[in-house]
Amino acid sequence: MHKSIDGRTPPYRAVIKGTGSFAPAKILTNEDLLRMVDTSDEWITTRTGIKRRHVTTDDETTAFLAAEAAKSALSDANLDAGELDLIIVATITPEMVFPSTASFVQRSIKAKNAWVFDLAAACSGFIYGLAIVQQFLQSARYKNALVIGAETLTKITDWSDRKSCVLFGDGAGAVVIERSDEGRSGILYSTMYSDGDRWDALNCQAYGSRHPAHKQLDDPKKIYMQIKGREVYQLAVRRIVEAVTQCMNHSELGVDDIRMVISHQMNARIIESAAKRLKLPDEKVYVNIDEYGNTSAASIPIAFDECVKKGKIIRGDIVIFVAFGAGLTWAANVIEY
Ligand code: ACO
Repeated sequence: MHKSIDGRTPPYRAVIKGTGSFAPAKILTNEDLLRMVDTSDEWITTRTGIKRRHVTTDDETTAFLAAEAAKSALSDANLDAGELDLIIVATITPEMVFPSTASFVQRSIKAKNAWVFDLAAACSGFIYGLAIVQQFLQSARYKNALVIGAETLTKITDWSDRKSCVLFGDGAGAVVIERSDEGRSGILYSTMYSDGDRWDALNCQAYGSRHPAHKQLDDPKKIYMQIKGREVYQLAVRRIVEAVTQCMNHSELGVDDIRMVISHQMNARIIESAAKRLKLPDEKVYVNIDEYGNTSAASIPIAFDECVKKGKIIRGDIVIFVAFGAGLTWAANVIEY
């Protein structure tokens, strides 16, 4: 199903006021992985672009990472948490089955006046979250929102499976978004897609209602992420190209108008291949997968925060976010920062 949201005309805009991110201190390098599975730095680097990933300790949970990123974004936006109306945490590695990870974040940052929920759209979660907030702020229903992408994927990684364990890392990124009736900046356009028929390409099956904890699993590996990487590779490139092209066409943007395209960091080769088809020069495509691996919903807000902090994106720049992941889901936003 497809939904497009045009944000060019409304009197109110959903403007990104602050960014923040957090990555656990512990690092797992490709060299470390050689001691765990039959792999090589050369294979991981050439096939994925990943060199290192940040991994949580047992004490570092998804809500902890999310709250740290949130505090950093609130400080950047100079906003008190008590002024937040809405908090969305995009995650597929929640704190627990319930309550939501967002509930723990609310408690941690003392956002007493917000309503909060988790959003499970895998790698597209942060983009879906921005699209939802765009609606609530443009309609003037709310004033301040916080969207967080936070994941602890290494906690559902099968460390004996070399095909998947080299790919993932942990982290969180956040943005504070404020309603504004001034200027041109804000979330300009969002486009979202899903294809539930392909749920089996990327999943983690236990312990939901299909495989409840009281029943023995037919395959003990179902507690871990399962990925059919080769199957989704080409599709990921195609969907990313389509979504960015749709953003450019709808918003009447040429390559020269765009400061940066920030893709979900799933594989450097996928990003490079999509960028080539879109005729995007290297300096307009941000890649930091070498440092973080794939952090699913967290990867775009972490990359965005890095770009802002490094001055690679400044106020007034046009930025496109694009993601593809489990569901299947894929989505994109156009932002004027
Ligand atoms: N080290 C060494 N060899 C390996 C490794 C490894 N870590 N992993 C696989 N191989 C071997 C395979 O066994 C295979 O050997 P064979 O030909 O003898 O059978 C060979 O390398 C090639 O395997 P492929 O799976 O075809 O490798 P490919 O080039 O497709 O790369 C990868 C695999 C990196 C997973 C790629 O397909 C990919 O990035 N896919 C999309 C990414 C993806 O699905 N990400 C998960 C999204 S889910 C989420 O984000 C939550």
